[in-house]
Amino acid sequence: MTKTPAITAYDAQPMRDRVVLITGGAQGIGRGIAQAVLGAGGSVMLGDLDADAGRACLREWQAGPRAAFRTLDVARETSVKRWVDAALAQFGHLDGLVNNAGIADPNRGPLHELSLKTWNRYLDTNLTGAFLCSKHALPSLVAAGGAIVNIASTRALQSEPDTEAYAASKGGLVALTHAMAVSAGPAVRVNAILPGWIATDAWKNPQTRRQPKLSRRDHAQHPAGRVGTPEDIGNLAVYLLSTASGFVTGQHFVVDGGMTVKMQYV
Ligand SMILES: NC(=O)c1ccc[n+]([C@@H]2O[C@H](COP(=O)([O-])OP(=O)(O)OC[C@H]3O[C@@H](n4cnc5c(N)ncnc54)[C@H](O)[C@@H]3O)[C@@H](O)[C@H]2O)c1
Repeated sequence: MTKTPAITAYDAQPMRDRVVLITGGAQGIGRGIAQAVLGAGGSVMLGDLDADAGRACLREWQAGPRAAFRTLDVARETSVKRWVDAALAQFGHLDGLVNNAGIADPNRGPLHELSLKTWNRYLDTNLTGAFLCSKHALPSLVAAGGAIVNIASTRALQSEPDTEAYAASKGGLVALTHAMAVSAGPAVRVNAILPGWIATDAWKNPQTRRQPKLSRRDHAQHPAGRVGTPEDIGNLAVYLLSTASGFVTGQHFVVDGGMTVKMQYV
C-alpha cells in the first residue's frame, strides 16, 4: 500500500547556515529584515551608505561572526563588486540577496519641475542598484541555489500626485523581478515585496532614532487596524529566502495592511 507523505514539523530556524546580503540593511526595513534573518538562524552581510548606522547594528546585536557590515553605494558598480567580494571572503558562500536600499521619499514635486538629475538619482539607487547587486551576487547565488528578494513598494501599483521618479523606479523593480526569475531559474528564485506604510522611525541610527508619532486615524484606516513595522516585512522576506518557498518565484507580494484593496470614493 502507498504511504501518504508524513507531517513535517515547522522549521523555526529556516535560515540556519544561510548567508544573506542586505542592501540598505543598517536602518529601517532593511534592518528589520536583517533581524528577522538573524532570528531565523541565518547570517547577514549589511551594506549601507550610513556607516554609523551599520556599526550601531553590529554593536547592538552582539551577533558575533553571524553579522558583518561594509559601506556600500548600490549605484556604483565598483562599490557593489567590492561589497559582494568582501561578503564571499568573510562567509565563503552566499544564499540570499535582499535589494532593499532606496531613496524612500516619494514626493519630488510637479513633473514639469522634476530635474533629470533627480529622476536619474531615484532610478540609479532604487532600480539600477538592484540590477548591479543581483549581477554581482548571481554566480554565488547560483552555486548555492539561493534566492533574491526585491523591496519595491505599493507605489509600483498606485500613486499620489508628484511621485513619478519613485513610482517608476518601483514599477521597474517589479518588472526586473519577473525578468530575473525567468532568467535565473531554476537555480535562483526571485520575488518582490511591495510594502505599504511602514513606520521606521525607531529603526534608524541611534542619533536620529525616535518613537513614531502615529495617530489613531493613521492606524484605523488600515483594514488590518495598524500601520506596518519592519518586522512585518522581515517575516515575509525570511519565507521568500528560505526553502519553504521553493515553488514561489517571479511574484510580488503586497504587505500593506489591506490599503490597496480598500475601495475609496470621496
Ligand atoms: N517605509 C516605508 O513606508 C516604505 C514603503 C514602501 C517601500 N519602501 C522601500 O523600502 C526600502 C527601505 O525603506 P526604509 O523606509 O526602510 O528607508 P530608510 O531610509 O529607513 O532606510 C534606507 C536605507 O538605505 C540606505 N541607502 C540609501 N541609499 C543607498 C545607496 N545608494 N547605497 C546603499 N545604501 C543606501 C540608507 O542609508 C538607509 O539606511 C526602500 O527601497 C523604500 O523605497 C519603504
